[in-house]
Amino acid sequence: MLVKTIEVVQEARHRGVAIGAFNTYNLELTRAIVETAEALSQPIILQLGVSAIKAGGEPLALATLAAARIARVPVAVHLDHCSNMSLIEQCFDWGFSSALADGSHLPYAENMAFTRQAVEVATRFDGTIEAELGYLAGTEDGVTVEEVESSLTDPMQAHEFVVESGAALLAVSIGNVHGYIPNPPPLDFERLAQVLTQVKVPLVLHGASGMVKEDIQRAISMGIAKLNINTEVRTAFLKAIAAWGVRVGGNPDPRKKGHDLLDLMQEAIASTQEVVESTIQTCSLL
Ligand code: 13P
Repeated sequence: MLVKTIEVVQEARHRGVAIGAFNTYNLELTRAIVETAEALSQPIILQLGVSAIKAGGEPLALATLAAARIARVPVAVHLDHCSNMSLIEQCFDWGFSSALADGSHLPYAENMAFTRQAVEVATRFDGTIEAELGYLAGTEDGVTVEEVESSLTDPMQAHEFVVESGAALLAVSIGNVHGYIPNPPPLDFERLAQVLTQVKVPLVLHGASGMVKEDIQRAISMGIAKLNINTEVRTAFLKAIAAWGVRVGGNPDPRKKGHDLLDLMQEAIASTQEVVESTIQTCSLL
């Protein structure tokens, strides 16, 4: 069933675990994520990034919502990293439960103004805003370890930011990065502990791909309540497609067993499910 993000995140926090938030790009990834959550009887969040929505448009957004509505477990639908207010409003209008209003690239005062405005928009739709303070770098930025370390969340600023912006969730930057970078810096658990003493809303950890399980679970035990994962799931899907291509060769014959489009999709779903399953278990501290 389609549920509110804030409810499933708060419920996870109450249980001392985190809810897995998985980026999806198409119906097959969505099925892989939702069916795994159903098999494990666990709630999850489906997230669409701006590039996915640009590529898939309203049909992708509505298909994701439909998959959440008919799921046998609680599923929330979230807009990931968005700095475009019109798209945030559009997603709430479609029925999304939450959005990450990402003003983290902006100077502090502008991030605050942007996040406040997003909270006003979300309130009209009874939706939730995740905010981000401290810049979360990623592979696409060609980032260095020094750059990651210079953009970590300031605990005192985080307190003021959440209180004054009205955001219901806060994404923290504690050394986590998006995607895989060589030799990532260690997570700054001391900083996380300080942010947790200053901020009363649930915290979100981005960039789970490539993070060691022990670090993720330590962060969850400390209080992280939503865990975002994208690259690892997407890569599993891509690897299955690549393996299918090698096996079938340059001239697929849909009449042959294992060569059809549906076979390809099924293989991609199956390999994605393994990553989703282990992430959900990590989130449940198993
Ligand atoms: P990864 O791609 O590192 O898993 O990060 C995903 C993410 O944080 C999405 O917001």
